[in-house]
Amino acid sequence: MKITKICCIGAGYVGGPTMAVIAQKCPHIQVTVVDLNEERIAAWNDDDVNNIPIYEPGLAEIVAEARGRNLFFSTDVDQAIDDAQIVFISVNTPTKTYGKGKGMAADLKYIELCARQIARVSKQNKIIVEKSTLPVRTAEAIKSILDNTGNGVQFQILSNPEFLAEGTAIEDLLNPDRILIGGDESAEGQEAIAALTSVYANWVAPERILSTNVWSSELSKLTANAFLAQRISSINAMSELCEKTGADVSEVSRAIGMDSRIGSKFLKASVGFGGSCFQKDILNLVYIAKSYGLNEVADYWEQVIIMNDYQKKRFSSNIVQTLYNTVSGKKIAFLGWAFKKDTNDTRESAAIYVADDLINEQAKIAVYDPKVSQDKMLTDINYLETRTAEQNKKYLSSFASSYDACKDAHAIAILTEWDEFKSYDWQKIYDNMQKPAFVFDGRNILNSAELIKIGFKYQAIGS
Ligand code: UDX
Ligand code: ADP
Repeated sequence: MKITKICCIGAGYVGGPTMAVIAQKCPHIQVTVVDLNEERIAAWNDDDVNNIPIYEPGLAEIVAEARGRNLFFSTDVDQAIDDAQIVFISVNTPTKTYGKGKGMAADLKYIELCARQIARVSKQNKIIVEKSTLPVRTAEAIKSILDNTGNGVQFQILSNPEFLAEGTAIEDLLNPDRILIGGDESAEGQEAIAALTSVYANWVAPERILSTNVWSSELSKLTANAFLAQRISSINAMSELCEKTGADVSEVSRAIGMDSRIGSKFLKASVGFGGSCFQKDILNLVYIAKSYGLNEVADYWEQVIIMNDYQKKRFSSNIVQTLYNTVSGKKIAFLGWAFKKDTNDTRESAAIYVADDLINEQAKIAVYDPKVSQDKMLTDINYLETRTAEQNKKYLSSFASSYDACKDAHAIAILTEWDEFKSYDWQKIYDNMQKPAFVFDGRNILNSAELIKIGFKYQAIGS
C-alpha cells in the first residue's frame, strides 16, 4: 500500500510534534492533524508560528516549513478520517477520576469516542494506529468497536507508541532510539506494519524499526516509562540518605553512572518527576497488575509513585522548617513552573504540589516561568480543589521577570531546570531579598560555591 494521506486525531504534545516531523520528512504524504478543540487548532494555524500552542525547541521552524504544503490543522475530523489511509489516535488518556479504577486506571472514553467516530465515517479500508499510551489490550477493544459498528470496511489496528520526551521532542523524533510497531500476525496485519514502516523509513534506519505483536508493543511503552521513573525515584531515595550521611548525590550518580550496566542517564536527583506520562502510566500498570491479582507486582511499582510524592512533600516541608517553622505571609519565589525545562507543559509538575503545600501554610508564592502563563498556573492549582479559586488567586501570582518575582522574597525555590537561571545576576537578586536569603535548589543547577559566597543560605537536593 502506498501511503499518501495520514490523519492524526489529537493536536496535543504528542500528535502535533510527531505529525510535524512526519510531514517534514515525507513531503509526498499529506498529513492532517485534527482536534475538537477549536482554539487549539486556531493556534496551530496562527500566522505567526511563534503562537502555536506547544513550545518545543525546533518545532515552530518545522511547522513554518511544512504547514500549508503537506501539513494541515483542522477541526473537520470526519473529513480527515475519511480521506486518510492511516489514522493515528493521539488523544489524551488521563487517569480516571470517577468510578471503578478511579485514581489508577486510564480513562479510555476519548479513545472509545475516536473509535466510534472512525467506524461511523470510514468508507474505505484503513490502518488505525494507537499513538497514545494505552493499557495492554486496548487495541482489542478498539478493534471490537470498529468491527461491530463500522460500515463493513476492514481495519488493521497497530500499536506505535511514541517515546519522545518533551523539551527534546524534535530531536527525539528526528533521531529516535527505536520505532516500535506492534501488529497482528495475520498477512493483513503484516501488510499494515509494512505500510507504517514505509513512512518511518523515509528518515529512520531499518534496524531501528522494530515490529512485535500488539500486546508486547503496548506493554513495552508502559514498561519503558516505569523503568525511567523508577530510576528517578531510586536516586531520589538515595538523595535523602546522602543528606543524612554527608554524601553528595551528584557524586554518587556520577560514580554509579560510569558503570556501563547502569548507565549515566536519568540519575538526576530532583524535587520529583512530573509530566503527563510517568505517574499515569505507573498507576495504570499497578491497576492492570492488581486486576490480574498480582499484588506484589502492583506494590513494587506503586512504591515508585509513593517515593515521588514523598520527595515533593519533603521539599516543601524542608522550606517551612528552614524558614523557622513558619512561612505565613512570607514571599517565596518559585523559579520555574513547567515540569521540566524547554516545555510549556505543566501536567503533574512538582511545582503545583509544592505550591499547594506552601499555600496551606499561608505563604505567598511568586512565580516566574519563561513559558507558562499565570492563568495556566492558577488552573493547575485550582484543579487540586484544596481551596477556592479566589483564595488561590490571593496566594499565587506570576511575574514577567524573575528579578521582580524574587524581590523582597524570603526564599527562592528552583522548581524547573531552565538554563537561564544559571546565568542570572545572583548578587543583584540577593541584594533585593529579605535576609537571611534562602535558596532551595530543587534541581541542583546553581553554582553553590558562588551563591554561598554572595551570602545565600543555599540548600540542594541530596547534599
Ligand atoms: C517521558 C519519557 O521520557 C518519554 O520517553 C515518554 O514518551 C513520555 O514520558 P517526559 O515526561 O516528556 O517523557 O520527560 P522526561 O524527560 O522523561 O522527564 C520526566 C520528569 O522526570 C521531569 O519532571 C524531569 O524533570 C524528571 N527527571 C528526569 C528527573 O527528575 N531526573 C532525571 O534524571 C530525569
Ligand atoms: P498528549 O500529551 O497525549 O498529546 P494532549 O492533552 O496534549 O495529550 O492532547 C490530546 C488532544 O486530543 C487534545 O487537544 C484534545 O482536544 C484532543 N481530543 C480528545 N478527544 C478527541 C476526539 N474525540 N476528537 C478529536 N480530538 C480529540
